[in-house]
Amino acid sequence: MQDTLKNIVSEAEAGLATVKSRADFETVKARILGPKGSFTQVQKGMGQVPPAERPAMGKLINETRGKIDAMFTVALEQIVDAELASRVGPAVDVTLPSPDTECGSLHPLELVRQEIIRIFRKVGFTVAEATEVETEHFSFDALNTPPEHPARSEQDTYYFPTERIFSNVTKKGKEAYMLRPHTSSVQIRTMLAEKPPLRIISPGRCFRRDTTDATHSASFHQVEGLYVDKHVTVADLKAVLDYFIRELLGKDAKTRFRPHFFPYTEPSFEVDFSSAHLAKLGKQWVEILGCGVVDPTVFEAVGYKDVTGFAFGMGIERIAMILYGVEDIRYFYQNDARFLKQFS
Ligand code: DAH
Repeated sequence: MQDTLKNIVSEAEAGLATVKSRADFETVKARILGPKGSFTQVQKGMGQVPPAERPAMGKLINETRGKIDAMFTVALEQIVDAELASRVGPAVDVTLPSPDTECGSLHPLELVRQEIIRIFRKVGFTVAEATEVETEHFSFDALNTPPEHPARSEQDTYYFPTERIFSNVTKKGKEAYMLRPHTSSVQIRTMLAEKPPLRIISPGRCFRRDTTDATHSASFHQVEGLYVDKHVTVADLKAVLDYFIRELLGKDAKTRFRPHFFPYTEPSFEVDFSSAHLAKLGKQWVEILGCGVVDPTVFEAVGYKDVTGFAFGMGIERIAMILYGVEDIRYFYQNDARFLKQFS
């Protein structure tokens, strides 16, 4: 019996050494451990062993079974590994360091966008977003901008061809779709979706039919702001924007509010600032944003009653150019790593 068990172990060893696939493995296993297998036969023969010898024999059989099981386990693991390797190709040592050690960083326009959001968030503004494809209603009509306004001309704004599915059928008839020329449309969309009081800023991409040069780009970014509540005045507007400009450009920054005209605010202003930043550029005052007290016709267009508010809009590229002393807007879009690396 002892010899038989030894032979079975050798048989298993020899059998497993030739195994190349899972099917081979199953064949060897059946030969030894299957219902008619050699080891199974020995186990069955225990009945004929004289009772006195049974404990010793039982022990031997159990030990042998342990050895055989261990051998089959190892063989099966090797088969599973081989199957996996054949699926994933040559071995890859995932613990080796990556050969690509270059690490990306945020784009300067994104850095400025995040900084603007951070500053306004501290005084209670949240971020609102809307679509880049807009209708005339949201871009102009609801913002008190009359049909003859130059911003509405095809020389300034990208319209989609009206015969396309893009044309929007409204009560007034067909209305053209366009790439939004400013983020001011977000004011209207937000007021229609929410109730006053409101404090939002809206950073996003805009498009104008500008010929690209050092200070113009047909695709650029703005941040719109809107504050709606009761009894909001120019003093609130000035306080918030003065705070913003000092946070952004340093405590020494001064502001100058120049009367201007925008259809959606009355009174309206352009804001210039002066700070140590500008000395580098050899300038004293630079315009940074447009703003004003929301015109009552805008509130009428969205059905808001008994509220006042202020709004503002600024270009992200322009602010990035001032902050970082970049003299050509095109650098932001050329994706030249030598330029981008300076902001990482
Ligand atoms: N929409 C203006 C522009 O594109 C910027 C602007 C000016 C936004 C005054 C405003 C505002 O909300 O009140 O130049």
